[in-house]
Amino acid sequence: MELDQKHPLAQELNHRPKVTVLGLESSCDETAAAIVEVSASGEITIRSDCIFSQTEQHAPFGGVVPEIAARAHADIMDGMVKQALTEAGLELADMDGIAATTGPGLIGGVLVGMMTAKALSLGSGLPFLSINHLEGHALSPQLAAPLAFPYLLLLVSGGHTQLLAIEDLGRYHRYGSTIDDAAGEAFDKTAKIMELGFPGGPAVEKIARTGDKTRFDLPRPLAKRVGCDFSFAGLKSAVQRHWHSLKAPTEQDKADLAASFQHAACDILVGQSKKAMRRFISEFGATHLVVAGGVAANQAIRSQLQELARNNGFGFLAPPLRYCTDNGAMIALAGALRLQRGMVSSLRVAARPRWPLDELSAKNNPASGSGKKGPKS
Ligand code: KG4
Ligand code: ZN
Repeated sequence: MELDQKHPLAQELNHRPKVTVLGLESSCDETAAAIVEVSASGEITIRSDCIFSQTEQHAPFGGVVPEIAARAHADIMDGMVKQALTEAGLELADMDGIAATTGPGLIGGVLVGMMTAKALSLGSGLPFLSINHLEGHALSPQLAAPLAFPYLLLLVSGGHTQLLAIEDLGRYHRYGSTIDDAAGEAFDKTAKIMELGFPGGPAVEKIARTGDKTRFDLPRPLAKRVGCDFSFAGLKSAVQRHWHSLKAPTEQDKADLAASFQHAACDILVGQSKKAMRRFISEFGATHLVVAGGVAANQAIRSQLQELARNNGFGFLAPPLRYCTDNGAMIALAGALRLQRGMVSSLRVAARPRWPLDELSAKNNPASGSGKKGPKS
């Protein structure tokens, strides 16, 4: 990451009693701005947390449309910044730094947040903090409850499925990630196949409650292989095959297929998390298993992970959904923690559609392939 060590405030800020940072998020379909304060002793205060979700704009298309997302972010990002300052009762001059997600994500959206933050930074002279969206997720559980490093994170959203050892700020070790679809994507596609609407996760979970999870035999890819990577593409295709084999599917057929799919998705997530816990214990000892990302809203997944943690002597933390899904507070928090350590970014930083959190692991073992733009996860 390109740092600006010469920024006049870079060294001075780590001696302040607290730092206050504005964080912007626009890498997918949520436009968010938030202000977070971190005291010298590590106490975190969320001063404001504003989010606008574009779900309604994408719903007719059954998924996020990048061009629509970018335009929608551009339309309202300035208003979100104003709202975040107003709700916090603060002015731009009260900030110590401006943070924004600069990747990975849909590039049009990422550019909106990044350029807004750079412009605010240039105009005000405040340090700019370039934040990896995945670092935001990795730190986000700390917004909900005091949580010491290190901990094991299962990040399960519409864009990512990863197991990460969060050792310290900036020290992340990827134990596994998806080699194809993300878990949330599999929920969304399953919902699309059965015409349950978008976003699919909540719809699948709802209908699955009345279904028989043992009726359809669905695959658990990579379960028997060494390592903690995930694969959901084969599961989605199997759902599709079963769906097409049903002549005139009834509501009960839908419920049974949704329940069988959710059961398989749960097994995959729990199975690979179990392997990751073994490795984590050998490297760091048993601490906390933390789950974040939109799929963490799923009650079946939550309760099975909780049981897994309990059985292995881990604490379990599933933050409220507000902090699990995309938000500005996690970006502001990452910015504040970096600022306290003098890790100010250069304004030359470029937006990155792909940006693995653990670049070394991704380079040496690209779970989801590499190519010109670099490893995907
Ligand atoms: O973290 P998130 O809001 O956005 C990103 O992808 O970054 O996650 C959204 C994903 C969607 O795929 C949605 O279907 C899934 O989280 N999701 C769920 C549930 N609620 C949301 N998946 C399973 N069960 C749920 N209850
Ligand atoms: Zn996210």
